[in-house]
Amino acid sequence: MCGIVGFTGSQQAAPILLDGLKKLEYRGYDSAGIAALCDSGIHMEKASGKIKNLDAKIDGGKALEGNCGIGHTRWATHGAPTDENAHPHLSNGGDFALVHNGIIENYAALREELIAKGVTFKSETDTEVVVQLLEQYYDGDLKAAVLKTVGRLEGAYALGILCAHEPGRVIAARQAAPLIVGVGVGENYFGSDVTAMVAHTKNFIYLEDGEIADLTPDKVTIYTDLGEEVEKPITRITWDVAAAEKGGYDHFMLKEIMEQPNAIKSTIEPRIQNGEIVLDDFHLTDEDLKQINKIMITACGSAFYAGSVGKYVIERLCRIPVEADLASELRYRDPLVDEHTLLVVVSQSGETADTIAAMKECKARGARILAIVNVVGSTIARLADDVIYTWAGPEIAVATTKGYTTQVAVMDMLAVYLARRLGRLDDAEYARLVDEIQQFPSLVQRAIDLNPNIQGLAKKYYNHNNIFFIGRNLDYAACMEGSLKLKEISYLHSEAYAAGELKHGTIALIEEDRPVIALACYEALFDKMMSNIKEVKARGAQVLAVVLEGNRQIFAEADDVIFIPKTEPMFNSLPEIIPLQLFAYYVARENGCDIDKPKNLAKSVTVE
Ligand code: G6P
Repeated sequence: MCGIVGFTGSQQAAPILLDGLKKLEYRGYDSAGIAALCDSGIHMEKASGKIKNLDAKIDGGKALEGNCGIGHTRWATHGAPTDENAHPHLSNGGDFALVHNGIIENYAALREELIAKGVTFKSETDTEVVVQLLEQYYDGDLKAAVLKTVGRLEGAYALGILCAHEPGRVIAARQAAPLIVGVGVGENYFGSDVTAMVAHTKNFIYLEDGEIADLTPDKVTIYTDLGEEVEKPITRITWDVAAAEKGGYDHFMLKEIMEQPNAIKSTIEPRIQNGEIVLDDFHLTDEDLKQINKIMITACGSAFYAGSVGKYVIERLCRIPVEADLASELRYRDPLVDEHTLLVVVSQSGETADTIAAMKECKARGARILAIVNVVGSTIARLADDVIYTWAGPEIAVATTKGYTTQVAVMDMLAVYLARRLGRLDDAEYARLVDEIQQFPSLVQRAIDLNPNIQGLAKKYYNHNNIFFIGRNLDYAACMEGSLKLKEISYLHSEAYAAGELKHGTIALIEEDRPVIALACYEALFDKMMSNIKEVKARGAQVLAVVLEGNRQIFAEADDVIFIPKTEPMFNSLPEIIPLQLFAYYVARENGCDIDKPKNLAKSVTVE
């Protein structure tokens, strides 16, 4: 995780770097720091805690002179989140400052080697070896020192480098961690994500693993780790800075919940043409498709839960075996994957380390890779054979909302698309399902509008320590995401259970007043869910039920009821997560939590 930024130009660097770091704070917020270069050398400030602490220390950046510099916001891996362990790190002689995102796996050996040469270390980080190596290797040729240094590193890194003897020059290097160069006029930037730079430029160069960017105010040079210059295309992004701002909402999360109808519209509308689903970006031929005898879906976190929805819907419609597996498990389980497997990789950021590793593992075994990704040009998008972008726009809140629902919308669309191509849907059924998909934006808007009292329910339930979610089939898939949302941002202990499993253990935890959120939207299993609700009620639970609009039966058992609008039952996961997102949001608000930046989490998990 961690976010890094760099700038060189004629303006003062620190305010620009600070602003960029604020946009990257979702990547980590244990500490932050900036180093800038001026006539008297490198000046640096760091502060543990959130970026506002650094902001106060350097007066919004004004207190740090210099027109080029680097910055960092940290999610601690090696060493506690203290000032000493905060980045940037300085070399012993003060010639170099460096920021790093990733993990240097061979840092212990390098550290010993450097200590033997008389180098002293001030931090417990893996990063500090890199800055010391740079100083050891520098003899007036910065490029040579950078090449020698990266040649010694094993692991993952996005590096930002500042050298006291090279005014106006910043270097960035990438290996298995995101890094993008922003190309301006008379000034240039780098950052972990375009949001850090989009206030200044819309032109970006996406670096590949092993590439190094050498930036001066007027020039960007990219070279490989062998020192050979490479020509890189410039990508122009279309969204602007307003998309990454709160726009009057108290939190990004609430803004992003409310943006879901539009995000889903942008995702599906261009892909339905004259009643047909058209996936231009999915190049599987009929011949290829015939060869596929298994679909595997892999992802982490909420993206995995979107994948779990996909498993139910794709399997049901396509009648092909579908497995959904956590990427962190799949990568190490010697999976049965071959050229007859379609691997569907789901990721908002496109940078999640475990997801990338699982994908590479399956690719090496011959699987065809389809990625469902939000961030254009991200690692997963570039490694996949085919990509379907979720056009959710930038998602800033650490807990995903529109990222997740656009993934679910794509899963539903993909299921119908594949089923049609496999000859599993007749014309009428296909037309009906496509029509339902076209209603998704208004369906989600209605799920928001139907539930004005979620805040009131949150006030009733917020002070409980344990909340269970139960559901069956697709309701169960939604339970997992609803429960994750609640624990991520409100820190309440919450678990999701397949309702049929309750009696095999969990029911022992049901006691007087224990809240149970029961999802009973899947009508074919409604009676089964009613039995489960009765079982927990009989043991004293308070039941908050989520059911389809118009369901009156539920009032016989539930203490509180949330309604969702009707759609094709297979697509229920989309509307039913909306009230659960709002519930988690308002519970966290009642508990006074830092909703957009929950403790210990980071949005983009680029370490294993
Ligand atoms: C982190 C985020 C989650 C996200 C997961 C996978 O844990 O906090 O919201 O679902 O990573 O991220 P990805 O970018 O691969 O979807």
